[in-house]
Amino acid sequence: MARFHPLTVAAVDRITDDSVALTFAVPAELREDYRHAAGQHLALRRTVDGTEIRRTYSICSPAPAPDGEAPRTLRVGVRLVDGGAFSTYALKEIAVGDKVEVMVPAGRFTLEPSAGLYAAVVGGSGITPVLSIVSTLLAREPDASFCLIRSDRTSASTMFLEEVADLKDRYPQRFQLVTVLSREEQQAGLPSGRLDQERLTGLLPALLPVERVAGWFLCGPLGLVEGAERALRGLGVSRSRIHEEIFHVDATPVAPSAIPAPAHSTVTARLDGRGGTWPVQDGESLLDAVLRNRPDAPYACKGGVCGTCRAFLVSGEVRMDRNFALEPEETEAGYVLACQSHPATEKVELDFDR
Ligand code: FES
Repeated sequence: MARFHPLTVAAVDRITDDSVALTFAVPAELREDYRHAAGQHLALRRTVDGTEIRRTYSICSPAPAPDGEAPRTLRVGVRLVDGGAFSTYALKEIAVGDKVEVMVPAGRFTLEPSAGLYAAVVGGSGITPVLSIVSTLLAREPDASFCLIRSDRTSASTMFLEEVADLKDRYPQRFQLVTVLSREEQQAGLPSGRLDQERLTGLLPALLPVERVAGWFLCGPLGLVEGAERALRGLGVSRSRIHEEIFHVDATPVAPSAIPAPAHSTVTARLDGRGGTWPVQDGESLLDAVLRNRPDAPYACKGGVCGTCRAFLVSGEVRMDRNFALEPEETEAGYVLACQSHPATEKVELDFDR
């Protein structure tokens, strides 16, 4: 659940002009709590002028084997977002020795290593979780290979250049890398321009046997992920083989719902084994209704992107504003994003423990 612990910053590495990698030391007694799967993220929080700010950042370091020792450190990538309250602090203020409130790892954009061919299309800081996925997969599974297609503006703005080049050196037969730079056409030998649906539809079959790829990992800005998904679907890839994680969704206005909201509604929620029933105020999300009574309810982005607030809808109906986090099979199985859900029936029951 949403357990935070203060972790000490062990290293701050500047990786481009506008991004850093933060390494946190994990004390021995918390190591099992911070054991993570490749592709998961950490929510970090701080309070500014009485307001709590939370942001999620993907772990870029490899994940431990299930029977291996839990890591002593965790490394995340942080790219500066214009006016970003947390990323500005991370780039300009955080120093070695500082304590930062870090939530235990979460997220389902993950790959459990197994034999086969895998591929990723990433844009910008979308490389961060995929770096963990690729390095974990290739180290743990000798019969796995990976094709990484990454795009960025320029090579100077490309995060984890060295780490990705190391993978290329270490696994020349099993790791294929294609870099596309949108603002660097003059670079000899490198493709340039934007990775959109049309481009990927032509590029992917030329790079690898699309139908043999066991899992596709799409990560980056909304436009890139949507375009890559459409290209893959057009090439006959089933949705169940496509995994997505979206960064930077602008706060687009949500269309008014056709489902009328009940005049009075309550939410019953089960969280860490304890339950309760509380009124939902007009217009507020189920997450906010729960948080007023249970401040330990899990969330990070409150924007429908990170999936931290996922809950099982036990009974009643909800209307979700946006969902960029749950896969179709999760919504079909009955999961909702509490931060985006509003009651459509007088009583709604959620289970955050399932
Ligand atoms: S808190 Fe991130 S999706 Fe709800």
